[in-house]
Amino acid sequence: MERLRVGIVGFRGYTGNTILRILSRHPKVDLTYLIDQEKGSFPEEFFSYSKKTKPIISGEFDPGNASHYADLFFLALPHTVSMLYVGDLLKVGKRVIDLSADYRFPDVSIYEKWYQTRHKNPQLLKQAVYGLSEIFRAEIKKTDLVANPGCYPTATILGTLPLLKKGLLKDEIIVDAKSGASGAGKKLTPSSLFAAVNENLRPYKVNCHQHAPEIKMILEKVAGKQIDLTFVPHLIPMNKGLLTTIYASLNKEMETSEIFNLYRNFYSFEPFVKVLNKGEFPQTKDVLGTNYCRIGVTANKNKAIIISTLDNLMKGAASQAVQNMNIMFGWEESTGL
Ligand SMILES: NC(=O)c1ccc[n+]([C@@H]2O[C@H](COP(=O)([O-])OP(=O)(O)OC[C@H]3O[C@@H](n4cnc5c(N)ncnc54)[C@H](OP(=O)(O)O)[C@@H]3O)[C@@H](O)[C@H]2O)c1
Repeated sequence: MERLRVGIVGFRGYTGNTILRILSRHPKVDLTYLIDQEKGSFPEEFFSYSKKTKPIISGEFDPGNASHYADLFFLALPHTVSMLYVGDLLKVGKRVIDLSADYRFPDVSIYEKWYQTRHKNPQLLKQAVYGLSEIFRAEIKKTDLVANPGCYPTATILGTLPLLKKGLLKDEIIVDAKSGASGAGKKLTPSSLFAAVNENLRPYKVNCHQHAPEIKMILEKVAGKQIDLTFVPHLIPMNKGLLTTIYASLNKEMETSEIFNLYRNFYSFEPFVKVLNKGEFPQTKDVLGTNYCRIGVTANKNKAIIISTLDNLMKGAASQAVQNMNIMFGWEESTGL
């Protein structure tokens, strides 16, 4: 196959910029189209790999015009913005990986309730595939529209998946989650100022974070039953990195070695999920700048404690999006990662 022509919309944002960095060294793609709203300097340093092409940067994003320049588009845009463009790109035969939440929920009422807005393009919701590679690989391969998962959902779902799949979980899961400041994107708010974040540990959106319904939706789909999820996120004074501590009620008492063996076997063929040795637990530094999710497990009678960590801008967003692109185009999943 010829090299794939790729566009990034929102390339000066945190996730868009991370995609840009990854793709500038990806052996199968040429970055042929970049656009954002800002008039800034051209990031020449990223194009040493794609020698043949110079990306187009113009004013406002126009899907019709953009479609002449690229065949796959990463939309690294805030929610409510992506939904304005996806339909037009699909109509002209383009494939899309959307990093926002706009296409993650097949049920529009859940999206509208949690994101407090009307969906402008609900007819495409059922067509989108939730881009968690470890679960939906077969569907991702065939789709033209991937809804890339949120960062907390990726860590939490991967952390609970083996127990869920084996039917070992009761319906209660408690998740204590922590993320670095880049999780909120680059926009300036009083709560994202250095003095507000530095030397501080802050719970936020306690039991009402918009990622809770996303986690619940996928866990319930996998488990085939209702899940009672308690989800409490915290902001930690780091640039990036995300760690979830999951307390899950088990159907029976289990030894740590049983849970460990289950996780090791379950993920043995996954290139980007690493289960640590018994008695070891992951830390955010282990995964910085990588597409890995690292997991440590232990048992306390009929409770499992699972600690799962990833880089929110990588496996939590940009590199997971590239993993999805690799799957969509039939390449080795780890290409360029
Ligand atoms: N940050 C994370 O850890 C993370 C993880 C998973 C998923 N996500 C999701 O990924 C998406 C992007 O997040 P982010 O953290 O990269 O956000 P960000 O840093 O705020 O960047 C957003 C980008 O979108 C552009 N943009 C905003 N409104 C636009 C419009 N109307 N038309 C064209 N471009 C527009 C911005 O352009 P300007 O540069 O001109 O402002 C900016 O480049 C969000 O939906 C977010 O929820 C983020």
